[in-house]
Amino acid sequence: MINVLLGKSIYLKLVEREDLFKRVDWLNDPDIQRTLNYDYPTSIAKTEKWFDKVISDSHRRDFSVFLIEDNRYIGFCGLIDISYPVGKAELYITIGEKDTWGNGYGTEVYDVLMKYGFEELGLNKIYIHYLTYNQGTQKIMQKIGWQLEGLLRQDIYSHGKIADRYIASILKKDWAKKNEISK
Ligand SMILES: CC(C)(COP(=O)(O)OP(=O)(O)OC[C@H]1O[C@@H](n2cnc3c(N)ncnc32)[C@H](O)[C@@H]1OP(=O)(O)O)[C@@H](O)C(=O)NCCC(=O)NCCS
Repeated sequence: MINVLLGKSIYLKLVEREDLFKRVDWLNDPDIQRTLNYDYPTSIAKTEKWFDKVISDSHRRDFSVFLIEDNRYIGFCGLIDISYPVGKAELYITIGEKDTWGNGYGTEVYDVLMKYGFEELGLNKIYIHYLTYNQGTQKIMQKIGWQLEGLLRQDIYSHGKIADRYIASILKKDWAKKNEISK
């Protein structure tokens, strides 16, 4: 498989038009929306417009997430706001198939995107914003050793109220050091 980014049990493929249907279902699921920020509800028509815009945007890469064992499509992720010369990008992720939560697939998506971002895109820093009550992301941050940069107070209008969120990140040098140790 050459056109994919390969992990241990998942792989990432650039998002295709045919992936949008499930993406819309996931985005409209209240359990998933709870920890995301976007303009919901969403529709196929709106998501197709989004797709047409992003596929030719060189400042982002948008992927679909699949399981290697059975090619099951389980979520989506990407790197956005890719900016040079500072070399940074924001990561986003959703594992939409809720029955797979807790199997480590989310964590693996981070691993694959860090490798891709640092080695292929030449990034120096990858960061994420997440709502303070997002326990899944909080756990992943601890597992993969991203550094909490701070609490952004009343930073975003989310689900009908102004909410706090965290920003956390990893630098290429810290990722490289960690990789060296785990070899
Ligand atoms: C957050 C998310 C990506 C985690 O995916 P995942 O495949 O469950 O991730 P992992 O299994 O690698 O690890 C996450 C850890 O958090 C736990 N977790 C996952 N979802 C959780 C939730 N909704 N509430 C509490 N804990 C959760 C997992 O059990 C696991 O715990 P463990 O390390 O003790 O086993 C996924 O729950 C998701 O897509 N949520 C909705 C959208 C979202 O919040 N995206 C991120 C926005 S910043």
